[in-house]
Amino acid sequence: MNFHLFITLQLWTHHCHSSLIGVTLLFCMAAHTHTALAYKCDETHITVCNQMAFCGFAFCVILVMLGVVALPFEATGGWRRNPWEPIIRSPADGGEAVENSTRWAVLVAGSNGFGNYRHQADVCHAYQILKRGGMKDENIIVFMYDDIVNNDLNPRKGVIINHPTGGDVYAGVPKDYTGEQVTSENLYAVILGDKSAVKGGSRKVVNSKPNDRIFLYYSDHGGPGVLGMPNMPYVYAKDFIDVLRKKHASGSYKEMVIYVEACESGSIFEGMMPDNLNIYVTTASNAEESSWGTYCPGMDPAPPPEYITCLGDLYSVAWMEDSESHNLKRETVEQQYQQVKERTSNYDTYNAGSHVMEYGNRSIKSEKLYLYLGFDPATENLPPNSIDVKDHMDVVNQRDADLLFLWERYKKMDDGTGQKAELLKQITDTMLHREHLDGSIDIIGLVLFGAEKGPSILKSVRGHGLPLADDWNCLKSTVRLFEAHCGSLTQYGMKHMRAFANICNKGVCQADMEEACMVACGGHVDSEWSPSNRGYSA
Ligand SMILES: *[C@@H]1O[C@H](CO)[C@@H](O)[C@H](O)[C@H]1NC(C)=O
Ligand SMILES: *[C@@H]1O[C@H](CO)[C@@H](O)[C@H](O)[C@H]1NC(C)=O
Repeated sequence: MNFHLFITLQLWTHHCHSSLIGVTLLFCMAAHTHTALAYKCDETHITVCNQMAFCGFAFCVILVMLGVVALPFEATGGWRRNPWEPIIRSPADGGEAVENSTRWAVLVAGSNGFGNYRHQADVCHAYQILKRGGMKDENIIVFMYDDIVNNDLNPRKGVIINHPTGGDVYAGVPKDYTGEQVTSENLYAVILGDKSAVKGGSRKVVNSKPNDRIFLYYSDHGGPGVLGMPNMPYVYAKDFIDVLRKKHASGSYKEMVIYVEACESGSIFEGMMPDNLNIYVTTASNAEESSWGTYCPGMDPAPPPEYITCLGDLYSVAWMEDSESHNLKRETVEQQYQQVKERTSNYDTYNAGSHVMEYGNRSIKSEKLYLYLGFDPATENLPPNSIDVKDHMDVVNQRDADLLFLWERYKKMDDGTGQKAELLKQITDTMLHREHLDGSIDIIGLVLFGAEKGPSILKSVRGHGLPLADDWNCLKSTVRLFEAHCGSLTQYGMKHMRAFANICNKGVCQADMEEACMVACGGHVDSEWSPSNRGYSA
């Protein structure tokens, strides 16, 4: 019934806006009758239906009057006629400004290397959606390492794709912060609009005003309490939330929507994210599970055969493909959340899928998406949301995606070449370092808490609504101690952040932690994995 009324009103709006007021009036009378008939009125509901029909009729008369008022505007060509737009529009409601406000976006790919192709592909794709939505480059700030498009392994030089049959998403992407400029410090400075604190890059920052809206999207590896960055150190939840608090305190935005794809991404916000910052967040996964890469070699749907790497990530392609297939002036943030949740769960199987989570101020969900992502006129006649095509998506755990990539690369190489032998060594070394990290953490647990309690203390997960760690400085110094003695955590090792947090939560002192690290790792760090070469992740 509501939907029917809605459509009818849209039609009325359309017709009342045309200059032919008389014809409109006739149409409205007809619609009045039609509306009354269209409701499936039975005897008990007839009064309600009559009332509704009367209200509809009264409303139409008001619309006609508005149409009369609107006539002079139309005559001057002041308003573009558009059947799907609300009647009352600001003349400035073009691509950029909404209610005298500007949209801003910060897009972050936190990884590098061809094996992580998908994160930069996600971010480039997001840029294209915002750009088609009418946003200007001066309001979109992109962090990407930019080592994919001309990579020797890229089968289509100059091109990045984010879908097996998708077109290029790289063209036009602004290179605001690339290579060694992709740092957590620069990200914080950009969000805060602090140009003087930015090092290198385009120096573009979120120079937002109190009425502005901000969209932040991040894609990469993560771990409990951390988001990866291609340059050390990582983004720690406490620092990130502090930046958001500071931004809010500066009164320089109206509302913000944040989308985060990473393993354990819920842990960045769980027990950490206040609901009074006018920020709404969704994450690809809860605080204790992986997020998933998709469009990977050998999977269904598979990338073109020449690609040896995954093209996208499950949650990311879900929100972007949803945005491209709906009218964002009609779809709400909530509707997108529901669709993305459904798809990222792999249609409620959670079998190789994750739990999309939400944090912060839920009231923002009722807003239309175009306030954050803009509006592409080509999507005008698309529905606000449609029935799902329930395609199962094959996926790979983020942490195994780089191994999958190395293995695909290995299979494609000619036998007997030095290169192939070298790559095999790289795969073996990577596996060995993973085992070394896992084993060292186990031993540290045994040393600190004993054989019986050690494993369970390290793995224990705090209840819903509690932060990962009480003392984030302790967490960081514990990570540094571990890396100094046992080698860099790497992308893979981020998963052990919970163990370090639990060590801190148990009040273990730094001296005891250091001793445990020495016992576990024997005082030798292979130079390949040394933090003096790779940097400390904390
Ligand atoms: C728009 O905002 C600016 C400040 O951000 C203000 O000076 C101006 O008066 C506003 N215009 C309208 C029409 O509200
Ligand atoms: C949440 O956002 C709504 C809409 O912007 C606002 O009215 C409300 O005060 C916010 N809630 C909190 C707790 O800040």
